[in-house]
This record gives sequence, structure tokens and C-alpha cells, in this order.
Amino acid sequence: MHILVTGGAGYIGSHTLIELYKAGHTAVVVDNLSNSNPESLRRVAQIIGVDRIPFHQTDIRDREGLEAVFTKHHFDACIHFAGLKAVGESVAKPWEYYENNISGTLVLVDVMRKHDCKNIIFSSSATVYGDPAEIPITEQCPKGQCTNPYGWTKSMLEQVLTDIQKADPSWNVVLLRYFNPVGAHPSGRIGENPNGTPNNLMPYITQVAVGKRPQLGIFGNDYPTPDGTGVRDYIHVVDLANGHVSALKAIECVCGLAIYNLGTGHGYSVLDMVNAFQRVNGVTIPYTIQSRRPGDIATCYSNPAKAEQELGWKAKFGIDDMVRDSWNWQRLNPDGYNEN
Ligand code: NAD
Ligand code: UD1
Repeated sequence: MHILVTGGAGYIGSHTLIELYKAGHTAVVVDNLSNSNPESLRRVAQIIGVDRIPFHQTDIRDREGLEAVFTKHHFDACIHFAGLKAVGESVAKPWEYYENNISGTLVLVDVMRKHDCKNIIFSSSATVYGDPAEIPITEQCPKGQCTNPYGWTKSMLEQVLTDIQKADPSWNVVLLRYFNPVGAHPSGRIGENPNGTPNNLMPYITQVAVGKRPQLGIFGNDYPTPDGTGVRDYIHVVDLANGHVSALKAIECVCGLAIYNLGTGHGYSVLDMVNAFQRVNGVTIPYTIQSRRPGDIATCYSNPAKAEQELGWKAKFGIDDMVRDSWNWQRLNPDGYNEN
């Protein structure tokens, strides 16, 4: 299939491009580079062994720009990663988050239907479950109250895409609810490249390991979990990338609306992650215990059985692979893409 990948220069998009090409698909990237560097696409092309990945530096809110891309290419489907994703920033700048993520998706979907491309895979998040009503979380678990505007954009866009598919059943919509993506391509050539202070656990750990930050702050050790620290379902980004290739099968089977959790089904605590990182990589991670982060929940992990049953997709990488590949990327690229 020929795929439009919005946000393809970013962390998950760049890894997904590799798995798409490995599976025999081709792709065109649209990205405004607001949170990425085109160096990622140069490295993806090297890894795949092609001259270049077709790329348009276009904002998905720019209707004319998108029209030009759709006039130039015929797409079988769109994998829609483009969006702003920093939780804290979304609390400070809600208008910017709603405008970018929601207006952008509305323009994208409108241009898609005008060009008769009605197949979309959307990057959603476990954040739509709020404080989950059940653990492990199945897709039947009711959506909950999000604690920030970023989370609401995901929850609202799920509803928008669901309603569009209901009104016009010739659409195929796949909502993928990611748990906690970590790790990097095993080559160490591409990985996560956060701007400023990382919000998420794994990039914070790797920046401590490489000497950029003195120590990790662990946000609370008094949760009702085995060691008191928060438990999450960390998933290797290459497994997550392959989940998108599998989701294309749902589109080929004319799924209508389909929702899948993409997680491993295993919950690891913050201390589990720190200990695994130290053991596998032989690096010490100093840490202090701090107060809880507002909006955090104790435990969140998936039941990923539906994706296995219906798509034949299952995460293959374990915690040791995740911490090894996260460190490999950071070690080889201490300043991310900015140094080369
Ligand atoms: P990322 O920031 O690395 O990638 C997103 C890309 O979208 C960036 O390259 C950015 O430049 C681009 N972009 C943003 N707004 C755009 C616009 N208006 N027009 C064109 N391009 C635009 O993030 P990521 O971690 O790769 O996440 C990809 C998607 O998955 C996002 O939608 C994110 O919300 C979602 N998601 C991520 C996580 C995670 O932990 N990384 C978890 C759940 C869901
Ligand atoms: C965060 C986002 C969520 C997003 C998810 C996946 C928040 C409130 N939520 O969730 O919307 O979908 O990432 O990208 O940010 N931790 C520390 N110290 C740190 C960083 C994190 O102890 O410096 C702890 C957290 O308290 C948590 C765990 O590590 O228990 C994971 O945190 P994080 O990586 O931010 O992911 P989530 O909290 O799951």
C-alpha cells in the first residue's frame, strides 16, 4: 500500500516508516518539523536502503498544502501521528493543543475524503481510559476523565473519527491506544529526541545516564503498588511500529471502526525500570524520591489480547531490550539529532 504518514519525522513515525518499508509498503511523510528534525528521515532512508523518503514540510492545518500533496500522490491509507504531545505544555497552552490537534485532524480528514482516501490509523493513547476502571485494561473498559488538554484531544478525536465512520461506512478507522513507548531502533541511528527537560521516564533516565542531568526524581513511592512507585506498560517502539503494519491488515479486511490497545500486558514500576537499566547497561542512575506528580495514576497496563487475536500482532521485545536500545541511542547520540 502507498501510505501518507503525518508526523513521520517524529519518534514513533520514523520507526514506523522502517517497518512499513520492510513489509513492502511505500510512504510519503507530511510533517511541519515543529517537534522533529529532518535528519531522522535521512537516517531512516539509510536504514531502509533507499535514496530518500518522500517528504513535504507541510502543516496538516494548511489545507492548500495538503491538497497539493494529495494531488501529487494517490494514497491507500493515512497513518496519522502528527500532533502536539507534551502533557504539561498542554495544561499551560490548551488553545494551542486543541487548535493543532483537533483543527489539524479535521482538515486532514476533509482533504482525505475529497481525494477518496477513507482509511485512517490514528495515534491514540491509554490516557483516554483516565484512571482506568479495570486492570488489565481491555478495549471494553469505559473511557474516563482525562487530566489534561492533551488527553482530551485524543479522547475527542476518537469520537470525531468514530462519528465520521458511522455517518459514512465507507471509511475504515483504526484507533490505536498506545501504552508507554520506549526504546529505539536497534541500530542506534534513530530514537526519541525530546526538546528541553524530558517529561517521560525513559528519556529522563537516559539523560541522567549520559551525564546531562544529575539525578532522576521518582514521583512518589507511596502508591498501592508492590514497591510503591507507579506501574506502567512500557512497549518497545519497534513493536509499536509493527502494530501499525498489522493495523493495515484490518483496513484491508474492511474493518469499519476498530480499536486496539498496543501494549505488552506487563506492568513494570519506576524502580523496575531503573534497576533493569542499571543491570543491563552497567550504568548507575542516582535518584531521589519526590512527591507525586499531579494527575498521575498508580497502575496502568493493558490486556493486548484483541490485537493478537484479530491482527496477529504481539509485542516481542522485553524490558531488557527496551533499556538496552534506549541507552544505545542516547549513548551514540548524546545530543540527539542536533549534533550532526
Ligand atoms: P513526536 O512529537 O516525536 O512526533 C509527532 C510529529 O508530528 C512531530 O514530528 C511534529 O513535528 C509533527 N507535528 C505536530 N503538529 C503538526 C502539524 N500541525 N502538522 C504537521 N506535523 C505536525 O511524537 P511521537 O512520540 O512520535 O508521537 C506520535 C503520535 O503518537 C502523537 O500523536 C502522540 O500524541 C501519540 N502518542 C504518543 C505517545 C508517546 O508516549 N510518545 C503515547 C501515546 C500517543
Ligand atoms: C505520560 C502522560 C500520558 C501519555 C504517556 C505516554 C502524564 C501525566 N501523562 O504518562 O498522557 O499518554 O506519558 O507517553 O505525563 N516518572 C518519574 N520521574 C520522572 C518521569 C516519570 O518517577 O521524571 C514516573 C511517573 O510518575 C510514572 C512513570 O514514571 O509513574 C511513567 O511516567 P511517564 O513516562 O511520564 O508516563 P505516564 O505517566 O504513563
